Amino acid sequence: MATHVADNERLERELAQLMEVEKFPPPEGFRERALIGDLSLHADAERDLEGFWARQAAELLDWNDEPERTLDESNAPFYKWFEGGRLNASYNCLDRHVEAGRGDKVAFHWRGEEGEERDITYAELHRDVKRFANALRARGIGKGDVVGIYLPMVPELPVAMLACARIGAPHTVVFGGFSPDAVRERMEFSDAKALVTIDGARRKGKTAPIKDAVDEKLADLSSIETVFVVEHTGVGCEMRDGRDVWFAAAIEAADEDCEPEELDSEHPLFVLYTSGSTAKPKGVLHTTAGYLVGVAFTHRYVFDLRPDSDVYWCAADVGWVTGHSYIVYAPLANGATSVIYEGAPDYPDKDIWWEIVERYRVTILYTAPTAIRACMKWGAEYPAAHDLSSLRLLGTVGEPINPKAWLWYHKVVGGERCPIVDTWWQTETGHILITTLPGAQEAKPGSAGTPLPGIAAAVVDEEGNEVADDEQGLLVLRRPWPGMLRTLYKDDDRFVETYYERFGKTTYLVGDAARKDADGYLWILGRVDDVINVSGHRLSTAEIESACVSHPKVAETAVIGQHDETTGQAICAFVTLEGDLEGSDELTAEIREHVAKRISKIARPQRIIWAGDLPKTRSGKIMRRLLRDIAEGRELGDVTTLRDPTVMQQLEGKVHERQASGGGD
Ligand code: WT7
Repeated sequence: MATHVADNERLERELAQLMEVEKFPPPEGFRERALIGDLSLHADAERDLEGFWARQAAELLDWNDEPERTLDESNAPFYKWFEGGRLNASYNCLDRHVEAGRGDKVAFHWRGEEGEERDITYAELHRDVKRFANALRARGIGKGDVVGIYLPMVPELPVAMLACARIGAPHTVVFGGFSPDAVRERMEFSDAKALVTIDGARRKGKTAPIKDAVDEKLADLSSIETVFVVEHTGVGCEMRDGRDVWFAAAIEAADEDCEPEELDSEHPLFVLYTSGSTAKPKGVLHTTAGYLVGVAFTHRYVFDLRPDSDVYWCAADVGWVTGHSYIVYAPLANGATSVIYEGAPDYPDKDIWWEIVERYRVTILYTAPTAIRACMKWGAEYPAAHDLSSLRLLGTVGEPINPKAWLWYHKVVGGERCPIVDTWWQTETGHILITTLPGAQEAKPGSAGTPLPGIAAAVVDEEGNEVADDEQGLLVLRRPWPGMLRTLYKDDDRFVETYYERFGKTTYLVGDAARKDADGYLWILGRVDDVINVSGHRLSTAEIESACVSHPKVAETAVIGQHDETTGQAICAFVTLEGDLEGSDELTAEIREHVAKRISKIARPQRIIWAGDLPKTRSGKIMRRLLRDIAEGRELGDVTTLRDPTVMQQLEGKVHERQASGGGD
């Protein structure tokens, strides 16, 4: 223990020194061996955008029919990519590797939470995908039918996704951490015809029933004709006659031959729901060819991927876009070997990640700043206890990384020999758009880097004019890119309104504030809309508010994201109660539980502040800016536009009282 303390003190000193360093060039020897050692790809794309993407499409994918045209901008913002092309995503992820004699290669090292290990080869994955695709067809599911998937990180998850892709049935995966209520809502919005789920899920040594909990909510949802159930924990569940089928039995009974559907480039691949500015989640629609070109291109060059020698690990959940793009589609399209880990980062102990890196000789690790900050808090002794010398490149995604966490990752995990790529993108963008090419560009801790080849990112003012260097503004994208969302599922109007109304139909509004420095590096400052980012999870304040007010004792609520050292932002809810009810610790717990049930545990307010009233403008709009000031203990900004300025004094009094009595909410 004493040596750990001494080591940690030394580490702190070394990190403090490194804080002075603003730029980190590619480490010694990396540039020489990198796939890309200069900015020639950027120059190519500048010269001829369509030619550039056409070349990538031809190089990265196998087509049934080559596209006739790269980009159709005639109906912006409803862009079309690779028109005339026909292909199949599962063919590109599986068949072509097996046909090329790489069937015995490991696609996934799957690691279960209790230490179980399963190496799944390309040939095995291929076989299961073909069989499950036939099982789907046997239940009447075909091209265009939506299939819901609600699974934890089990091998059946990528099997189900790729089987859908094989028959042209768009999948809609719901993150396993979301509640059955959220599943129901998403199934209803997307008119899903089938659902793939599981008997129970495991988390840190406990099991929770899933199928039975979901069933309660699905009862009257008539669109769902089939429920496939993976048997994982053996907790047991009811199976409804005629509707429910065991996943394993369905695969067992299915034929192994299954021709992939030849699909148009723009055939829907998946819908993924994400939080927006209103309570209703947005169904982001991605299509086949552009998405695959985008994810395969970025995975290859941003991670400098060598499919023959790398072991790649994206430690996200497949239920988020990061997992769709960089656990399933890109690594498989590129023929890589990856790790899939079912469990939590601190179970059975806080060194499990590093044990996995050592065990599988992981060479590329991709994770979120919040995870790095948690590891930092646990201490450097956990990574130090393992041999991490296999690592050669590190990546981060999901939120801005604070320089200290960047330096810790660089030093403690990367041993100062691994470049770090900070990758900026969104559910909507499908793939990475802003980062540094690890062999060609220097990294600046805290900055995501520069736009990738062909990406036209700009920082603009309210009128859409580019602002000067180092000035804050709104991040926009002024040219389309292959993996962009095509629309919001069944809601073209909301798509245009959300992304293309503010600055016109050719300028995509990102929703982030940013700054560009004199080297063209972008510094992302966070969301400008009512979306908050907790541990890299995107949540809508409106959705949480709507869950809070559905509690019978809550009259009104306003939710804000408050700065938090570990999670980036934390959820803070100002709650006005019905009648003259008084706030209490019990009620706090009740409301938190209520929100967990309606949305997810991750949406639970960390802090609840009882409010007699909420600060509103004369037109009745809640002024969240002031609530943020209160929550973060700042001097209040301008209150003159408030209908009733005394509301703020009362609120301030409450917060102080609470702090004085020592009560953290
Ligand atoms: C929002 C998108 C992309 C997969 C995970 C999140 C924030 C994302 C970064 C980064 C600073 C980032 C933005 C963005 N974000 N990556 N490298 N640096 N901020 O996907 O849930 O759709 O959230 O995450 O605010 O708009 P998402």
